Amino acid sequence: MEKHVLGLELPTDPRWVDIAEKNIGDILTDHAYCEQKAASSCISLIIQFYDQPKLVELLTPVVAEEWDHFARVMAELKKRNLSLGPLRKDEYVEALGKLLKKGGNRQQQLVEKLLMNAMIEARSCERFRLLWKEIADKQLSEFYYELMVSEAGHYKNFLSLAKEYQDPQEVHRRWHELLEQEAEIMKNMEIRGDRMH
Ligand SMILES: [Fe+2]
Ligand SMILES: [Fe+2]
Repeated sequence: MEKHVLGLELPTDPRWVDIAEKNIGDILTDHAYCEQKAASSCISLIIQFYDQPKLVELLTPVVAEEWDHFARVMAELKKRNLSLGPLRKDEYVEALGKLLKKGGNRQQQLVEKLLMNAMIEARSCERFRLLWKEIADKQLSEFYYELMVSEAGHYKNFLSLAKEYQDPQEVHRRWHELLEQEAEIMKNMEIRGDRMH
């Protein structure tokens, strides 16, 4: 999964993966919550947009996949005699949330949310790719490879769903605007070895 496939404007600082590897317990806890938030976010979308059959159909299995990821991260913690730590403030997701346009009709709100989900999937996917390529623990590296593939699928789902609810050209334009803004967020964010993002 190359950077240009995901469209991200700014690759992750390569120092991140070294720090992350040294703090794998913290990374696993933060990662577990990323999976939980991904599942929760899909559940919220289903509840809020129950009257959009395509969305409900596409996101229902994603909830199960994200929860399976959560369970598998928990197993990685257990293998290392670690347990889940507390949920921490997610500065990246908070900053992304501020980019979303308020107002507009229900469809426009939905598209904003779908694009935000797509962005988090894309950035996670890019980070899993780094973990897969760089970390020494072979078994964990393979796990990250699988996640990279899975999150890439989710990213595509969210983008294609967005195009169901808004003119694809407009989605494309907005997506590129968000990509630029996401790169700005990343550029200004401290590199932390205890966070997935
Ligand atoms: Fe996931
Ligand atoms: Fe995902």
